[in-house]
Amino acid sequence: MTATGSDACASVPSAPAASASASPAPAASASGRPSSAASTSRPPASPGPGPAAAGGDQIPLSRPAIGELEERLVLEVLRSGQLSLGPRLEQFERAFAARLGVAHASAVSSGTAGLHLALRATGVGEGDEVVTSPFSFVASANAILYERARPVFADIDPVTLNLDVDAARAAITERTAALLPVHVFGYPADLPALERLGLPIVEDACEALGAVHRDGVAVGARGHPAVFGFYPNKQLTTGEGGMVTTGDERIKRLIDSERNQGRAPDTGWLEHDRLGFNYRLSDVACALGIAQLQRLDELLGARARVAERYREALADIEGLTLPCPDSGGDRRSWFVFVVQLPRGADRDGAVRELSSRGVQCKPYLPAIHLLRFYRERFGHRPGELPVCEDVAARSVALPFFAGMSDGQVQRVARELRSVLGR
Ligand SMILES: Cc1ncc(COP(=O)(O)O)c(C=O)c1O
Repeated sequence: MTATGSDACASVPSAPAASASASPAPAASASGRPSSAASTSRPPASPGPGPAAAGGDQIPLSRPAIGELEERLVLEVLRSGQLSLGPRLEQFERAFAARLGVAHASAVSSGTAGLHLALRATGVGEGDEVVTSPFSFVASANAILYERARPVFADIDPVTLNLDVDAARAAITERTAALLPVHVFGYPADLPALERLGLPIVEDACEALGAVHRDGVAVGARGHPAVFGFYPNKQLTTGEGGMVTTGDERIKRLIDSERNQGRAPDTGWLEHDRLGFNYRLSDVACALGIAQLQRLDELLGARARVAERYREALADIEGLTLPCPDSGGDRRSWFVFVVQLPRGADRDGAVRELSSRGVQCKPYLPAIHLLRFYRERFGHRPGELPVCEDVAARSVALPFFAGMSDGQVQRVARELRSVLGR
C-alpha cells in the first residue's frame, strides 16, 4: 500500500529487505513521504522506520516477507548479466499459470498496466462503457479512462463489498462493452452470476491471489483476462509488477506484444507491428516473484492466521464491522484487514489517534466516484451509491502482514478499543 497511485510508482525501498522470520524487522519499502501524509487512497506498503511512539514501537501498516530464497534468486539474475527479457520472465509466467490452473499468464510492470492491456485486448475503446465497482483502488477505474471509455459505477454488496450483481445488471446499457469486477480485499466477486449477464469480463484480481470461487475455480482461472498486482503490500510481491492471466491464446499474444512496444515475440528486432507500451517486468522482478510463488502457501497461511487472531481480538468491540467470513464455498485470500468503525465514530480522528500511538492505519478504500477528479469530470454527487459511500466513510485498514505477531495484533486491538472508548 502506498499513499497514492503516483506515490506507488515513486516508491523506493529505503531499507534492506526484511528477513521473513526477523521481527521486528526494518521496513522494506517506504512511500518517500512521511507516513502522516494526508489524503491517502492507498496506505503505504510500509511507512518506514518511524519514531517509537508512546507505548512501544511503530506497528507498520504492511511489510513484505522477503527471505533467503528471494535474495538468492535475485542475486542469480544480477550475476547473470541478463536483467530483462531473460529466462526468468517465462519461468515466472509458467509457474504462475500452473499454480492457478489457467492456460496463460503474461507478466507486466504493474497491476495498472495489466488492467490497461486487458481492457484493450477485450476491445474496450473510445465511447464504450464499462460497469465496475466504485469501492476499489482508483487504478481499476483509471485504466478504463486510458482507453477513453467511461467507468459506470454500480453499487456494492454490503457484506462482501464487491460489485452487487443486480446493481451491475441495472447499469448495463447498449454502450456497455465489458464488466470490470474487483475482488476487493481478496474476497471473490460473484463471477458465476456476473458471467450470466453475458458481457465480456476483465477481472481486477490485484488483491486476490490465492482466493477461490464457490465453484472451486481459483480467482483468475475462469478464462477472462484477470489482473494481479505485486506491489509490496500484496500476498506476493515483485516490488512493482503484475500478471494478466487468460484462457485465450490470442489475448496472451496481444498482451505480450503490447507490453513490449508492439513487438510480437516472433517478430524481428525493432519490428513493431502495432502500438505498444513499455509495460515489461524485469527478470530481477520475475526472480523475486518466482521465489515468492514458491512460498505462497506459507505466506497465505501466515496472513490467514493473523486475520484469525484479529477476528478473536476484535470480536467484542460493539458496533465494529469485521471483514465478512467466507460464505457459500467462496474462499478469501487475506490481503488487508479492513474494519468499518461503528456508526457515529470519528473515523479520521480515530486514524490520527491510532497513528500517534504507533499503530499505522489508514482510511481504505475511498468511494472512487466521489474523488475530486471523478466528481468534476462526470458530475458525480454524494448519495448516488449509498452502500459504497457508507462503507468508504467508515473503513480503516489496520496493520496487516504475514510476519505480524500475536502481540502486535493484541496491541492494535487494545488501542482501537481505547480510541473508540469501548
Ligand atoms: C484493486 C486494485 N486494482 C489495481 C491496483 C493497481 O495495481 P498496481 O499498483 O500494481 O498498479 C491495485 C493495487 O493496489 C489494487 O488494489
